[in-house]
Amino acid sequence: MSSKSEALAPVPERVERDLLDLARIRDPESGGWTRTVFSEPYRASREWVRSRMIDAGLDVHPDGAGNLVGVLHGRNPAAPALVTGSHTDTVESGGRFDGIVGVLGALELVRQFAEHDIRLERDLLVIDFLGEESNEFGLSCLGSRALAGELTAAHLDRRDYRGDRLGDRYTAFGLDPSGVLAASGWTAARPLHRYVELHVEQGPLLEERGVSIGVVTAITGIERMLATFAGRPDHAGTMPMGDRRDALVAAAEAVLAVRREGCGAPTHGVATTSRLSSEPGSPNVVPGTVRMHAEMRSVDSDWLSSAMRRLTEEIRLKAAGYGVEVEVEWSRDNERVPANPAVHDAISGAADTLGIAWEPVPSGATHDAVHMARLCPMGMIFVPSKAGRSHCPEEWSELDHIRTGIQVLGATIMELDRTHD
Ligand code: GLV
Ligand code: MN
Ligand code: MN
Repeated sequence: MSSKSEALAPVPERVERDLLDLARIRDPESGGWTRTVFSEPYRASREWVRSRMIDAGLDVHPDGAGNLVGVLHGRNPAAPALVTGSHTDTVESGGRFDGIVGVLGALELVRQFAEHDIRLERDLLVIDFLGEESNEFGLSCLGSRALAGELTAAHLDRRDYRGDRLGDRYTAFGLDPSGVLAASGWTAARPLHRYVELHVEQGPLLEERGVSIGVVTAITGIERMLATFAGRPDHAGTMPMGDRRDALVAAAEAVLAVRREGCGAPTHGVATTSRLSSEPGSPNVVPGTVRMHAEMRSVDSDWLSSAMRRLTEEIRLKAAGYGVEVEVEWSRDNERVPANPAVHDAISGAADTLGIAWEPVPSGATHDAVHMARLCPMGMIFVPSKAGRSHCPEEWSELDHIRTGIQVLGATIMELDRTHD
């Protein structure tokens, strides 16, 4: 590792100012720091990110999928490019750090390179990916998925609970859906060398272990479930309890079964029910139909597939006991993706050289890195999240940890700049 990378000294105050300025661009009608994909605050924030990229010295090209791609030109434009980045959209009532640290941290790194007269051999692309957070269409990572050629016409035909099409949301945001589907084209013309993403951990492990850097081993697989319970609507005052076919009672059993599966996972596994909607919803009618949304995640693919089978069976069996029929549909958000061992070692080697303690950690959150792994070898750097909180307004990471994360990102990028396939 060169002494130049050890000299990098990210300025936390600049990162803090950027974090605070971006956090101000949010939906005032929602709680926390809300900037969901396709919303007006998100549209405004992309202009802000674009101008901060330009201020940092990047040549910015929005691509057909709505990603902001900032290029730091290297000495050899023909060499496969290095890529870093993350996302700046948030969940509803979300925080100020998830994804944002990866984009704003990369901008601070680019400023550091300029201030230390460091010119990379390869181009470095800093990407702010469109809409990473899972949306009401049950799909995460819209921008990186499109870039990797994994977004399909069938995805654009998905409808949310209001009946709106995903493709129409793109159009209303000013993005042509056919351009979105064709967006992977530029990566074919422009080979990529390695992808490294800096992100907050969003869980408690690093804080518990007292280390400031996590090197990601694998990113969780995510399977989503929609269960539709068909019971029978009846008068809530007159139908005897034993004769009812109450869809909501069957769904309540299913919610507990989801939790039991998550609690029983041997290593990393979690399961969450996020939404129940019951019809007709009148106080004096036994619920006839319930739609239940849940998801299961694990970095252990075998456990995930067996848990899905067990859960489907248990939900059917319990529902039958209440005279309720149920249709269970599963859709995959993403498969488990391991980090590339050589990129993992480049990150941990960079931390070792800088004298920074690190731990290998799995990622229970999904990331744009899942899709970038289709295009080139991928690795991720985590910094601690206070009390493991994330996807909530209280989400917090210490500036000192963010500074350390940027240092490790810088040293890793410089090391990977020198590696050849
Ligand atoms: C995104 O943060 C996710 O893991 O769903
Ligand atoms: Mn994120
Ligand atoms: Mn998130």
